[in-house]
Amino acid sequence: MRTPLVIGNWKMFGTLAEARPLATGVRDGLRRVRGADVALCPPFTALAAVGEIVRESAVALGGQTCHWDAAGAHTGEISPGMLVELGCRYVLLGHSERRKEIGETDDLVNRKVKAAIAHGLTPVLCVGETAEERRQGLTFTTVEGQLRAGLAGIPAETIAQGVLAYEPVWAIGTGQNATSAQASEVHGYLRGLLSELTSKEIAQAVRILYGGSVKADNAAELVAAPDIDGALVGGASLKVADFVAIAKHAARAATAPRGA
Ligand code: 13P
Repeated sequence: MRTPLVIGNWKMFGTLAEARPLATGVRDGLRRVRGADVALCPPFTALAAVGEIVRESAVALGGQTCHWDAAGAHTGEISPGMLVELGCRYVLLGHSERRKEIGETDDLVNRKVKAAIAHGLTPVLCVGETAEERRQGLTFTTVEGQLRAGLAGIPAETIAQGVLAYEPVWAIGTGQNATSAQASEVHGYLRGLLSELTSKEIAQAVRILYGGSVKADNAAELVAAPDIDGALVGGASLKVADFVAIAKHAARAATAPRGA
């Protein structure tokens, strides 16, 4: 049985003045919620403040990316060890916005995944097709390429420690979420690939999150699907009530019969 995981990806939102009340609201709103793991990924500049607020609560902290080197002359970059020092447990890697805007390649993502694991962080490897790729029937080809490349050279037992996120690019920030049937189809495919790369047992243990326009009013249906193990939430994670509602749906899904 996989514990659902709900991650708030704040992206480039959250000055300290905004981050503090948001993190406090999420922490307090989820104080009595059991059954789902929750993490916040604020911008680097808010990690320390948010870390202070969620310390000793059930809410974990994550980075939105990291460098592949432990240290070095990389102006503007953040190392995995720096994230660990601030109390991060997770790091998002290969987000489509970084692939597109910054030009992150599968090879770089793979190096980052390895570095994250070496520092004890749980990588959340993001994969997903564009609208054009879906139109051309290339959804499975695209996510398979990203998954295989992202996990290349990583031993099976190590893959077991990671998290995957399926984020169709056409669903990110558009208000047009994948239906639970569309997401389930891809999640099932990814789990099959994981099984091939590792073992059936490990593939069954790895959490695969769905991301892309997850909102308080569509989360229940998405997280109820058997292969969807939680959500990676962008816009709705910036509103306390919405994010708390999404996390509660995931917690409820964990206790309800799967697929119900
Ligand atoms: P939205 O929830 O705003 O669509 O963003 C999803 C996302 O990219 C999370 O990483």
